[in-house]
Amino acid sequence: MSGTGSGRFITLEGVEGAGKTTALEAMASHLAERGHAPLVTREPGGTDLGEAVRGLLLDHAGDGMCADTEALLIFAARAEHLHRVVRPALEAGQWVLCDRFTDATYAYQGAGRGLGNERVAVLEDWVQGPLRPDLTLVLDLPVSQGRARAGGRSAPDRFEREQDAFFERVRACYLRRATDEPQRVRVVDASGSQADVRLSLQQMLDTWLRESGLHD
Ligand SMILES: Nc1ncnc2c1ncn2[C@@H]1O[C@H](COP(=O)(O)OP(=O)(O)OP(=O)(O)O)[C@@H](O)[C@H]1O
Ligand SMILES: [Mg+2]
Repeated sequence: MSGTGSGRFITLEGVEGAGKTTALEAMASHLAERGHAPLVTREPGGTDLGEAVRGLLLDHAGDGMCADTEALLIFAARAEHLHRVVRPALEAGQWVLCDRFTDATYAYQGAGRGLGNERVAVLEDWVQGPLRPDLTLVLDLPVSQGRARAGGRSAPDRFEREQDAFFERVRACYLRRATDEPQRVRVVDASGSQADVRLSLQQMLDTWLRESGLHD
């Protein structure tokens, strides 16, 4: 449980090009139809400072940063996002729908960069206390398919320049987290059409709402 107020905290995860941002608005509309219109936000980002940090992290041109710096910047942006946006909303009873959250840090920095789960867990406990998402939906598809979808964009960012092996570690970590925490982390097949993925997400949301006693 998110542990604050009566709002629920739902996060969307998956490798580059899985379709998270595309699916976000449809998910928000679906929740609104069920009486739970969410605040829609994203990480890294969600505040002016967070968006500035996002720019540093994605940095299309520079020569990068070490994995520790990357993880610390992400959690600095997260602290601000939680303080200014997420916690106040949850405490006011509002639902929050976030495009990526800490599962992405386990996947990209913990597994992808090889920082390990323990370091991420220390920062998670520090910055979040007991706050965890109530539900995390992982959009899963083969790495090559996600890359093909994302490949249509302009200059690749710092993550998109990584090799397939990096994204295989990211994908495997997401799937492992779903196996380890099946109640919270649920996997959606994202390899189909946008309509198929949207339907799967809606069904997944309804199942969870019913299980949680939040919808008939
Ligand atoms: N199910 C789908 N089938 C085909 N194309 C899709 C599908 N979902 C999204 N796309 C397209 O793939 C591209 C990437 O989608 P999107 O930006 O939503 O992915 P993302 O998961 O948010 O990626 P990133 O992690 O890089 O932010 C977009 O051009 C989008 O229109
Ligand atoms: Mg996106």
